[in-house]
Amino acid sequence: GFFKPQSSPLQNKTVLVTAGPTQERLDPVRYFTNRSSGKMGYAIAEEAAKRGANVILVSGPTNLQPPANVHFVQVKSANDMYESVMEHYRNVDVVVKSAAVADYRPKLVADQKIKKQPSDWSIEMERTTDILHTLGTEKTHQLLIGFAAESEQVEYYAQDKLRRKNLDMIVANSILQSGAGFEGDTNIVTMFKKDGTSVSLPLMSKQEVASNLLNEIELLLKENVE
Ligand code: CTP
Ligand code: CA
Repeated sequence: GFFKPQSSPLQNKTVLVTAGPTQERLDPVRYFTNRSSGKMGYAIAEEAAKRGANVILVSGPTNLQPPANVHFVQVKSANDMYESVMEHYRNVDVVVKSAAVADYRPKLVADQKIKKQPSDWSIEMERTTDILHTLGTEKTHQLLIGFAAESEQVEYYAQDKLRRKNLDMIVANSILQSGAGFEGDTNIVTMFKKDGTSVSLPLMSKQEVASNLLNEIELLLKENVE
């Protein structure tokens, strides 16, 4: 017979994906960042676009090429990401917050390069805004998916974030397991849903994780309609 494409509930939905690390400036030559490569988020954006979604990818600095057919927004700091995400939030159907957002930034940003001193040095840091928590507080119709990178008590912390941030689902990975986490091409995740059920995936490529995650998102979108 003829090939008939299965219509996806993501068709014509708008999906906002955040990816990568953030950079928090200290002075003109220094910043704080983390080991996120952006690969997980870019794979999610690419797969959502393939399934017919309008994708907005808000990304911190990475070495990756933006996928085809996504609206690409490049940001640096947690605050840049916050502003970009809030600007689009009202008009999106799904948010996937895979970015590794800095929790702290230098309290003072120097205009000139900071010179070394004979003594030791400490830098005062202040909290950034928790973007995902803000989205949970202001949620109207959106499906909200968070990530949790944990080095211990994965299920406990992930469930806690799911509840506190008012999420529909959280994707947890144990960053100390080999084959999981930041820089590699593979991941081992468990998806916890707000109805109390969970789906554990074995070691697989980040493309395959993205595909499984979008399958779950499609199910949640169907439930929302019914
Ligand atoms: N997140 C965010 N804004 C922040 C910090 C985190 O939107 N300023 C989001 C991340 O994108 C991720 C989720 O919150 O989807 C969980 O991030 P994580 O670092 O695991 O949790 P935190 O709430 O920051 O708690 P902690 O780092 O103490 O574990
Ligand atoms: Ca954090």
